Amino acid sequence: MATSSQSEGGATFSAERYFATQPPPASLEHDVARVKEFVQRQLKEGRKVVLVTSGGTTVPLELNVVRFLDNFSAGTRGSTSAEYFLKAGYAVIFMHRQFSLQPFSRHYSHSTHPFLDFLDFDPSEDPSEASHIVVRPSERTQLVEVLTTYKAVQRAGTLLTLTFVTVNDYLWLLRAVSQEMSLLGRSCLYYLAAAVSDFFLPRQKMSEHKIQSGKGSLHIEMDQVPKILKPLVQEWTREGYIVSFKLETDPDLLIPKARQALARYGHQVVIGNDLHRRKFEVVFVSPKPKVSAGASAEDYEESWLRIDLAQNPQKEIEEDIVAELVKRHQQWIEAAGTQSALT
Ligand code: PMT
Repeated sequence: MATSSQSEGGATFSAERYFATQPPPASLEHDVARVKEFVQRQLKEGRKVVLVTSGGTTVPLELNVVRFLDNFSAGTRGSTSAEYFLKAGYAVIFMHRQFSLQPFSRHYSHSTHPFLDFLDFDPSEDPSEASHIVVRPSERTQLVEVLTTYKAVQRAGTLLTLTFVTVNDYLWLLRAVSQEMSLLGRSCLYYLAAAVSDFFLPRQKMSEHKIQSGKGSLHIEMDQVPKILKPLVQEWTREGYIVSFKLETDPDLLIPKARQALARYGHQVVIGNDLHRRKFEVVFVSPKPKVSAGASAEDYEESWLRIDLAQNPQKEIEEDIVAELVKRHQQWIEAAGTQSALT
């Protein structure tokens, strides 16, 4: 397995080769049918649509999978942002790692705010014969707020949830969803907050059964996952407004890596976040207007977004991230109108 030292031996898959050699997930057709229907509905009702990807992908080491590698992400960024996009009037396709946090239910995560802890038996009844359950008074205000929004979103049909586990599920699903969303032209936004594996084990190289121990150390050579932003930007959804994320642990790498991604893929924004500061600080990196291919460092601009959690501990930085993106996306839509009026 490639760790701190990397060999040059592993293959680099192009996206075409990847999809020609790796099988689609069994649920793909069913998911695509749901996405088609959802996109048609939003088109008819004139809503903007955002695809939010959230959570980490896994890389299985065996076909009958017992062991896998995982990417770090609880799904907080994605699930929180999805709620703010819904609030801003967007329809949301929420593509997330199975069992990671989801919009609305995230407020009652089993580890930070367990569901059972805010319920009680009705105090007017004998607990041994209790037939009614009540919500603790301290929890009511928030629950009413969350439940009201959740029910309204369900009635409006503006949230579609899709699930992935492996990096293979993610890549197939992202391609299919983006192809369906391309019908929306500039009205679609991509918010790629998922933490996607950079290396994978092609199916053809996987052991069928559980890898046995007892033969000393384990050596696995992994291949590189194709950089999926490239075909996403250049082929699958040419008009979409694409926001990718960059997670780093060395703060000095954040801006150079974000600029590098923009120069390589030509999309609209990279949001850089440092692992330990991501809850209160992010940086938006984007090309200055009219930057073309071959751009240099001066052709990009950065704007930092910070919140003061000491002053306001309830504040979620995703509220401000989403507000900024909604504004930029609208400008992007209007710019196209201006361009077509000029031609
Ligand atoms: O969920 P939380 O716990 O709140 O954490 C949120 C987060 C820190 C994971 C999130 O804010 C974040 O930074 N996500 C991106 C993590 C990252 O840096 O991923 P990456 O370097 O693997 O990918 C960078 C971008 O390229 C991503 O937008 C990804 O969608 C894209 N990518 C990655 C791999 C690949 N093969 N193709 C891609 O297009």
